[in-house]
Amino acid sequence: MLIIYFLIFLFVIGIILLFTSKKLSPIPYFPTNKTDLPLILKALNLKQNQVVIDLGAGDGIVIFKAAESTYAQKLNTRFIAVEINPFLILVLHLRRLLHPNKKNIKIVRDDIFTMTFELLASDFSLLTFYLYVSPWHLEKVIENCLPAGKTGKLNLFAQARIENFSVVSYMYPIKSLKKKETRAQGKNTIFVYS
Ligand SMILES: C[S@@+](CC[C@H](N)C(=O)[O-])C[C@H]1O[C@@H](n2cnc3c(N)ncnc32)[C@H](O)[C@@H]1O
Repeated sequence: MLIIYFLIFLFVIGIILLFTSKKLSPIPYFPTNKTDLPLILKALNLKQNQVVIDLGAGDGIVIFKAAESTYAQKLNTRFIAVEINPFLILVLHLRRLLHPNKKNIKIVRDDIFTMTFELLASDFSLLTFYLYVSPWHLEKVIENCLPAGKTGKLNLFAQARIENFSVVSYMYPIKSLKKKETRAQGKNTIFVYS
């Protein structure tokens, strides 16, 4: 019996460490507010041949809801949930298994500050990033994923053939994209750049 308590204790400590370790999860986990989901789905402007990448997907609240909506509309929109926290990766995989649109959902464990995006989404014409990332990390993430010409910084997407590109940022504006900004006001502000 003592062993079982000890194992439970270790499990709980492990989970706490996963959520508090700055190295494993530099941006703390807070899910998007459920009441803002309809506005966020509208901001994502879901279409055929679009790939939506949630950078730091958490438990997938946004991506699974969006995938539900495109499934109902019979759209071929694809979704990629990028997450670093192993516990949340497990949650994402479990939720994906039970999702009616699972063939269009991909779960990736990677670091949004350093990952290579072109390998994830090279055969599409429309790319949308969804971010709910602390303001002091936003620009660094954006610099790692935007194609040349948007911020002026050449990066991995410079060679990708992307016709259309948009970013939806929950709660926090992206200063370097200010000129392309529109807003939607829900419980929190949704910033759209397209
Ligand atoms: C504020 S939460 C947002 C969760 C989800 N996007 C949502 O809107 O509900 C930020 C998420 O980013 C993840 N994260 C933090 N640092 C990361 C990194 N370097 N690479 C990938 N994901 C990261 C956290 O584990 C957390 O789940």
